[in-house]
Amino acid sequence: MKTEIFKATAGNHNLKDYEKTYENFDWKEIEKYFSWSETGKVNMAYECIDKHVEDGYGDKVALLYKDASRNESYTFKEMMENSNKAANVLVKEAGVKKGDRVFIFMPRSPELYFALLGTLKIGAIVGPLFEAFMEKAVKDRLENSEASVIITTNSLLGRIPQSELPHLQHIVVIDDNVEDKYIDFKNHFKDASTEFDVEWLTRDDGLILHYTSGSTGQPKGVLHVQNAMIQHYISGHYVLDLKEDDVYWCTADPGWVTGTSYGIFAPWLNRATNVIAGGRFSPEGWYGILEQFKVTVWYSAPTAFRMLMGAGDELVEKYDLSHLRHILSVGEPLNPEVVKWGDKVFNLRIHDTWWMTETGAHMIVNIPDMDIKSGSMGKPLPGVQAAIVDDLGNELPPNRMGNLAMKAGWPSMMKTIWNNEPKYQSYFLPGDWYISGDSAYMDEDGYFWFQGRVDDVIMTAGERVGPFEVESKLVEHPAVQEAGVIGKPDPVRGEIIKAFIALRDGYKESDELKEEIRVFVKEGLAAHAAPREIEFKDKLPKTRSGKIMRRVLKAWELDLPTGDLSTMED
Ligand code: WT7
Repeated sequence: MKTEIFKATAGNHNLKDYEKTYENFDWKEIEKYFSWSETGKVNMAYECIDKHVEDGYGDKVALLYKDASRNESYTFKEMMENSNKAANVLVKEAGVKKGDRVFIFMPRSPELYFALLGTLKIGAIVGPLFEAFMEKAVKDRLENSEASVIITTNSLLGRIPQSELPHLQHIVVIDDNVEDKYIDFKNHFKDASTEFDVEWLTRDDGLILHYTSGSTGQPKGVLHVQNAMIQHYISGHYVLDLKEDDVYWCTADPGWVTGTSYGIFAPWLNRATNVIAGGRFSPEGWYGILEQFKVTVWYSAPTAFRMLMGAGDELVEKYDLSHLRHILSVGEPLNPEVVKWGDKVFNLRIHDTWWMTETGAHMIVNIPDMDIKSGSMGKPLPGVQAAIVDDLGNELPPNRMGNLAMKAGWPSMMKTIWNNEPKYQSYFLPGDWYISGDSAYMDEDGYFWFQGRVDDVIMTAGERVGPFEVESKLVEHPAVQEAGVIGKPDPVRGEIIKAFIALRDGYKESDELKEEIRVFVKEGLAAHAAPREIEFKDKLPKTRSGKIMRRVLKAWELDLPTGDLSTMED
């Protein structure tokens, strides 16, 4: 009975169903949607694309792509054939096999999606990299995962230090003028067969490896497995509210988890028409996409909404956005003023969703028709048990602030941290509680309210930046003796990166030096990781063991009491 609610992907969702299933929800019932729950033969790319062709939807548009020079559309059948071709190229030319780590490092384009799906069809694990990553960021990730293949473009080749990566066997270049030592994707793709035998996997086999930041140490490789699709599917159905005729646009790049879980998997598992826009953000460009493609469901982030808001209401009024029916947000707190603006200009409520790289899919959400409390992240997705716990894993009563936690065992939970099982274990407290790193409270109606990060992780423009990574890069600059990095509240970006720097002897403070250091991080690590603000200090606050005390820096910055300084050096 219950499964009937989920059987068809289109048009049968309403609040009543949600409430009914919310009470006696069972993931085992949801997974029956997938034939692999009986056959055991799993492949994400098959479920996203080929399955719909088999079911008679081959002619339905799967992908609407647009950037400055391209404006293209692909049906599910074309996506199937193109991903088969990509899989054939990767197997024949680059020897890719099941379980290999294949990185994809390029700007958005239809080929990125063919290559990504092709990689999955082989049963290899995809490692998506944001195109703005510079050499160090690329090297750390390829090294840690022992990647054997990277797919990229000519202009990004210079950021791949091949000689320092002994496991890297092949570089596949996707555009023209490819040197002989690289694999020429386009050339081989042209003649590749449109048929490919999908590799059947188990639900516990690898799917995707997303690197993300913590407050200490190098970025960690969060591994997700095929089983995650159960939750991608059902959250696409419940939360994105995807129906047969929807045109859906998620603005995130696949280098980040939102751009894969909700830019690829959830929409295509639900057989939606998926809009992908390449290029950079511009208010005109974005409104233009919403209008041109008659987008009905739109998933973006508070920073983007605030930038659109900043562009003025006269601009949005020039576009026909009458097709929009559902808007969602993720990545940072959704301020009530943004919600108010959304109500006014789109005449729609922006729905907040909370989750993170490690959770793989939505965890705390606002389902359409659910009563929304402005400023709250919403309630747990059906099947997710969330709570506020103390540092020992004891559940706290309503209205008490503590660790936002979830009972382990939801389908899209990370499988491990690549090559670092102790790190993986460190996420859990007794009682099988996964600790998110966010602090929050739950009110008496079961709504969750975000308070902040427990650790020093910075969320800038919806992107997660580890202060340690930035500090490590900063101290590589010849002028920098020590560096401490914090997130500073910012009205548009949520937080910006601010660096406190003590200079080496012989260097003088100047604006030119600040700029030089900024560029150094930008070109060495990534643009979004470069500090927007730099302040020079004679000395930085440190513990006796030599750790920079970021909380003291933060207190200085915000004019707050510095708290307990007993561990400080002097
Ligand atoms: C951190 C996870 C997968 C989503 C994109 C970011 C913050 C996420 C919200 C929200 C307030 C949010 C949290 C979380 N965050 N969504 N709705 N309200 N904060 O994924 O890079 O893994 O970052 O983003 O602090 O821990 P991520």
